[in-house]
Amino acid sequence: MKVTVVGAGHVGATCAQRIVENSIADVYLVDIVEGLAAGKALDLAEAAPLVGHGRSITGGTEYGPAEGSDVVVITAGVARKPGMSRDDLLETNGRIVTQIVEELVAVAPDAVIIMVTNPLDVTTHIAKEVSNFPRERVMGMAGALDTARFRAFIGMELDCAARDVQAMVLGGHGDSMVPLVSSATVGGVPITQLIDARRLEEIVERTRDGGAEIVSLLKTASAFYAPSAGVTDMVASILRDEGRVIPVSVLLQGEFGIEDTFLGVPARLGAGGVEEIIECELSDDELAALQRSAQHVRETVEAWERICAG
Ligand code: APR
Repeated sequence: MKVTVVGAGHVGATCAQRIVENSIADVYLVDIVEGLAAGKALDLAEAAPLVGHGRSITGGTEYGPAEGSDVVVITAGVARKPGMSRDDLLETNGRIVTQIVEELVAVAPDAVIIMVTNPLDVTTHIAKEVSNFPRERVMGMAGALDTARFRAFIGMELDCAARDVQAMVLGGHGDSMVPLVSSATVGGVPITQLIDARRLEEIVERTRDGGAEIVSLLKTASAFYAPSAGVTDMVASILRDEGRVIPVSVLLQGEFGIEDTFLGVPARLGAGGVEEIIECELSDDELAALQRSAQHVRETVEAWERICAG
């Protein structure tokens, strides 16, 4: 099994580390900056005897060694600075992912693409357009991260293990995301029985602003530990054919009443990529919020199309 990770920055290098150190796959790391991917890959390979994995990890600037990859993870592009929204990255990152997907399609035509570069739902749309892959094989990582943040904050609030919190965040990866309060549970107990509505609303807000909170602390970088953990869960579920149910950004074709829009929804991930979109029942408010989120993604796609035309 081989995974190519494009972008050897914070998110990409940490993804590579998690994938090899958890013995999920061999990794080829690519970056446009000469020596960066090769250097980080060599450093990770030198850690192998200490952490005890037998995976191969190499790096470079070329796409040839990505040949035959089962999964490609795209993290290349610029990250946010304080005060920026994810949409502010559109023009720069849209062009970067276009060029990268063209390179990858030539060498790894059967791969599953996992997009990480922001603005996530739109870069995933671009990857689908450029690759012309079936929708099962083009997805974006956002829900895994937003859900992890939501679960972590609920765990902190209740002083209980975050892994016992079950919850889901749907919608676009941005201000319009939709954390589902009604179905969140801790060890099977609905959180609405444990946390009052006002406090829950604050936790939902913190989840929505989770990325910005990290950017404002780091100042010169955005989050990468939790994002790379989200990617690793998705890669593992696909390569090990685990069938995990994880919210991912996927092209909706009528599901949830939404047409032709990439949006975060629960999906079963296995060897074929997105093997099923799980159309769970939503409250009227949640469905309306999901529709608003879809509208925001469509508007950002239109902004991208104007950039391409202009
Ligand atoms: N080809 C390959 N690599 C590229 C290209 C390109 N055309 N353009 C930029 N890169 C590389 C940079 O050289 C850098 O090493 O992408 C890497 C990005 O790394 P960071 O700046 O550390 O950014 P990171 O925090 O990893 O975030 C990457 O993921 O979460 C999103 O919003 C985030 O869009 C951002 C992306």
